[in-house]
Amino acid sequence: MAAEEDFSSLFLVGFMGVGKSTVGSLLAQMTGAELIDLDTLIAHRAGMSIPEIFDCCGEAEFRRQETAALASLPAMPGRIVATGGGVVGREENWTLMRRAGVVVYLRADWHTLEERIGSGEGRPLAAGAERARLRSLWEQRLPLYERAEVIVDAEAGSPEAVARRVLEAINRQKGQG
Ligand code: S3P
Repeated sequence: MAAEEDFSSLFLVGFMGVGKSTVGSLLAQMTGAELIDLDTLIAHRAGMSIPEIFDCCGEAEFRRQETAALASLPAMPGRIVATGGGVVGREENWTLMRRAGVVVYLRADWHTLEERIGSGEGRPLAAGAERARLRSLWEQRLPLYERAEVIVDAEAGSPEAVARRVLEAINRQKGQG
């Protein structure tokens, strides 16, 4: 069972604005692991920004590209993957993430997320969206995020503190393995 206990990759999931990219980048610095930002990879492969993909081809096409990007990640030990907030919506994505490593949910309350999302610039599902609609999207996704093996509070403290909490939680999980 050694391979499963190795946590070859760590997938950060959670709603927009929770800090997946920031915490991911700190985790990469702290551990020396490679960071992959899934949205950056999707945009790079498409030759378009995320809003441009939504504009030209719609959300369904973005989701297809998101799954393709996830599936294309080479098996590599010690990698941190910061995902987009909607990655939890497809069963196939769960299969891919679970096969490659551990899924960590960064959790925060709605009011914190709302504040961090702000005008939603660069986030097609948030920009110009009614707050009530965005909140309802968050509520619909909560049970999906909670499927993660590891749940870390990203509400309080600095991003560094959240990153440390992730490492502690992973180590605890390893200890239980
Ligand atoms: C999305 C979140 C975005 C990005 C895309 C869709 C979502 O990523 O993947 O705009 O469905 O919640 P962030 O969570 O990094 O903002």
